[in-house]
Amino acid sequence: MVNPNPYTIVPMHERPDLLKETSRLINSQWPASERRRLRTLEASCDNFPINLLLLKDNRVLGHCRISRMPSKEDSCFIETFVIDREYRSQGLGSKLLHAAGELMSKKGIKNSFLSTKGQEKFYSKNGYKICETADIMPGLDRVVPSHQLPFKKINPLPKISGPPPPPMPRNRFLPQTVLLYPGRTHMLKHL
Ligand SMILES: CC(C)(COP(=O)(O)OP(=O)(O)OC[C@H]1O[C@@H](n2cnc3c(N)ncnc32)[C@H](O)[C@@H]1OP(=O)(O)O)[C@@H](O)C(=O)NCCC(=O)NCCS
Repeated sequence: MVNPNPYTIVPMHERPDLLKETSRLINSQWPASERRRLRTLEASCDNFPINLLLLKDNRVLGHCRISRMPSKEDSCFIETFVIDREYRSQGLGSKLLHAAGELMSKKGIKNSFLSTKGQEKFYSKNGYKICETADIMPGLDRVVPSHQLPFKKINPLPKISGPPPPPMPRNRFLPQTVLLYPGRTHMLKHL
């Protein structure tokens, strides 16, 4: 009999047996050393970062990583979002993104950020809106001016008045998505 819902979504740390397979999936999109991938995947835990997997009959078809924003307690960012090439355009990316949103909500997270280059349509189909770099981290708007962003911006988060923000932390303390590679679009969904 055919399983009517063969898909499950589980955090990486509940399926350590799938570490290598997950690393292979990510590396099929963004080649990097397996050692480096495994180290990041092994950091998955209940209290963030959480690496979320989409499985079909125990095969890893999708992955994303959810981390806390260092500068915003009630916010997370999503990165390394990938669906197996053979399974794209079947709604699986949307399924995984939706599950990631629900998981964040359950943990009290109010805003989900990400940055992308080329997948804006996919994310906007799933409720994400273009946001200002300053919404991600005060001061970053000096790096990528808002007029370079292609779409209408979302209502900004409340601005915090007071003294200017502290200097930017060194890059190694910044999450990958806010390193602001040129041309990336920053997006936000209020959960
Ligand atoms: C982006 C990605 C996760 C989307 O996953 P998916 O399972 O194809 O997503 P869905 O099927 O839920 O939605 C597909 C929609 O996204 C868009 N889309 C994004 N990438 C697409 C692709 N390669 N082929 C077709 N549609 C794509 C389309 O608008 C499509 O809309 P439609 O179904 O109404 O035509 C997947 O294409 C992927 O892994 N891409 C490579 C890695 C990547 O770029 N990740 C994002 C990093 S920011």
